[in-house]
Amino acid sequence: MAKGRRVPMCGIPHQTLETYLSRLLERGYRVAICEQVEDPRKAKGLVRREVVRVVTPGTVTSESLVPARENVYLAAVNPAQDRWGVAVADLSTGEFRVTEVPEEAVVQELQRLGVREVLYPQDHPLPEGTPGARTPYEAWRFEPQEAARVLCDHFQVVSLEGFGCAGMPRGVAAAGALLQYLRETQRSGLRHIHRLQVYRPQDTLLLDPAAVRSLEILHPLVGTDRRATLVGVLDRTRTSMGGRLLRRWLVAPLLDRARIEDRLDAVQELTSGTHRERVQELLSKVADLERLVGRCGHGSATPRDLVALARTLAAVAELQQAAAAFHSRLLRELASQLDPHPALREELERALVPDPPHDPRAGGVIREGYDPELDQLRRAASEAKAWIRDLEARERERTGIKTLRVGFNKVFGYYLEVTRPHRDRVPPEYERRQTLVGAERYVTPEMKEREALILHAEERQREREYELFCRLRDRVAESGPGLLATAAALSTLDVLCSFAEASQAYGYTRPQVVDEPVLEVEGGRHPVVERVLQEPFVPNDLRMDGRRRIAVVTGPNFAGKSTYLRQNALLVILAQAGCFVPARSARVGLVDRLFTRVGAADDLAGGRSTFLVEMQEVANILHNATERSLVILDEVGRGTATYDGLSIAWAVVEYLWAHGRPRTLFATHYHELTELAGRLDGVFNLNVLVREEGEGVVFLHRVAEGASDRSYGIHVAQLAGVPREVTQRAAELLEELQGAARGEGALVRRGRAVQMALPLVVPSEVEAELASLDLASMTPLEALNKLHHLQQRVREQLRADSPKVVRMRRPRGS
Ligand SMILES: Nc1ncnc2c1ncn2[C@@H]1O[C@H](COP(=O)(O)OP(=O)(O)OP(=O)(O)O)[C@@H](O)[C@H]1O
Ligand SMILES: [Mg+2]
Repeated sequence: MAKGRRVPMCGIPHQTLETYLSRLLERGYRVAICEQVEDPRKAKGLVRREVVRVVTPGTVTSESLVPARENVYLAAVNPAQDRWGVAVADLSTGEFRVTEVPEEAVVQELQRLGVREVLYPQDHPLPEGTPGARTPYEAWRFEPQEAARVLCDHFQVVSLEGFGCAGMPRGVAAAGALLQYLRETQRSGLRHIHRLQVYRPQDTLLLDPAAVRSLEILHPLVGTDRRATLVGVLDRTRTSMGGRLLRRWLVAPLLDRARIEDRLDAVQELTSGTHRERVQELLSKVADLERLVGRCGHGSATPRDLVALARTLAAVAELQQAAAAFHSRLLRELASQLDPHPALREELERALVPDPPHDPRAGGVIREGYDPELDQLRRAASEAKAWIRDLEARERERTGIKTLRVGFNKVFGYYLEVTRPHRDRVPPEYERRQTLVGAERYVTPEMKEREALILHAEERQREREYELFCRLRDRVAESGPGLLATAAALSTLDVLCSFAEASQAYGYTRPQVVDEPVLEVEGGRHPVVERVLQEPFVPNDLRMDGRRRIAVVTGPNFAGKSTYLRQNALLVILAQAGCFVPARSARVGLVDRLFTRVGAADDLAGGRSTFLVEMQEVANILHNATERSLVILDEVGRGTATYDGLSIAWAVVEYLWAHGRPRTLFATHYHELTELAGRLDGVFNLNVLVREEGEGVVFLHRVAEGASDRSYGIHVAQLAGVPREVTQRAAELLEELQGAARGEGALVRRGRAVQMALPLVVPSEVEAELASLDLASMTPLEALNKLHHLQQRVREQLRADSPKVVRMRRPRGS
């Protein structure tokens, strides 16, 4: 009941809260959590309850609802004319970052981060494609002064200059609004959010969301098998923090050559030395320090968390020793950032029992000898218990009743029980409490006194333990910044070890990273496909440089074009993330942006197969690709009629050749495109080889220079088990179509295969003639004669005995 208004209600068991919480969040609800804020025993009348927290999609922190190896980001955007402010926070780890990006890059940045919830000024709609739940928020919260006030207040500083965000007024405004929102929804402390970091997306290799998706970096296009992703292959991290960092690194590889070399040096050291295994063994003892500090910050850490922290710090101390042997620059820097917090660890170890309960109020958390008051309470309780335990023997002796016994139940507490026959020998100070069939139960004033003492001492004990625990938790929260710095060093070390381990296990090599726009790969492989394939993966080369910029890759269906394109894109990502690469050798010219456009047919899982979307993505590429970009185009134009598609594909290549001039890999079924190599220098042909054997073909998966001249689509159909009748008929039709296509316009080469996977209309001779008439230059009489002539020809054809098929329309929907 709210203010006399009825609201539906229902009850759920306390321990199933999380299940219901996740369901409600999935439906887009925000959930307010109320708790009793008074001790029910001390409260008069109704126990006071308050909203302690509002859980929203971007602010979930309970362990069972947030995936260990993923960040849960809440973002706030602040729209402005030119650049938008974007702030992002992970409440569970205390990460808080801010940036400013051009309006058209906002959605891309939010998608790249994979944000769960976006906060925006309520009067300003969000752009289309914004991911996550959308939360409108009062516009004045985004005002620069208000926002700065909130931030300064939280960080206890007089100005924000120390955070290096002076040049980012819009970003600061977004950050302030975000923090205010967290304060309102979380109520309890946000102490673990102790700094605001400025970042610039343009300092990293920008991966457009289509690239992250189609290259299957984090999630597979189909299904949920993590092994089918890049992260699945590379993730050998031992900590969840490392797992999260690895994901961040893979979608934001570096652009700065020195930093890349630093990582590569570290990976090299870790692959060659023997100490990696030792380091990883120690890392596997490390708890999720970021989230642990987070839980201490908002007061939800459990006694087990603190025990885990003590163990983690012990492991950090050992790691620090192991790290003394490091010599590459980055590893040494990381070693110097590992702080085992000896004093804190000592205190935790002294205070906590090794295996405490989850619930800090349950008692049994604090060790003997840590706190004199607690020890005193414990002693009093145990003395009283011992007194009662010995009571039985004493009273038997005193009264001579051999069957007298001491018992306990919830209603009466401790009692003395005497069987009926001995009733007469009961001493006068016994007070009768309960009569049973064969016995009577009594208490004595002394006993009651001891009992009260035990109960009181136990209650005080639990209270005291809880007090002590909270004090420890606060102490951890105070050490938050230092612990988080150590956590950052641990995660980085973990990812570098993971890179090294995977590189060693799969035979990767160190790439050479250079500034010139080249991409030279010898014996390159697809890191994921090579892992899942039953047969051996065929390595392939690539050589791109100033004179070889645009590769047109042709080859039969199923030959391996898409695989080849993707493996080269992945190689660049790995190299710039600082990992070794699956190739015999590789020379990678730094890439500033990676674009991919995967043809409609290949992007079903994205659920975005319309031609319009395809063209929007192409437009994005054409506008934004630079000389340092890498563009992967797989079957662009496939989503429309053959000649439209071909013309678009052709024009796209011409445009990229003339503008931007990015390195481009273009896989296509339009063999006509191979003509471009002869016309534009910088364009070259590659094809994926097959060998014909009798009626069938053998896929060699080998990429060679030059154009391929046949499609083998029908062979693939045969391979796929399409009935023989159909494939034979298809072969016949192909012959005729190729005949009909001869003599067509400039784009269609004689004798070349025509791709059949599309709605295809080849005009009949009559139609072709009709289409070619120049009516404006004909007299009416000429036109009439021509019409008569054409009509004659059509009639003749219709009369012919065995009409040959010269035109074919594919049935709709095939
Ligand atoms: N280098 C390789 N070594 C071994 N197998 C490969 C190689 N490249 C591709 N394959 C195998 O061939 C299959 C088809 O590859 P892919 O999808 O890249 O072909 P495609 O030429 O793009 O086909 P389509 O024209 O139908 O799009 C892959 O699933 C993979 O199993
Ligand atoms: Mg393909």
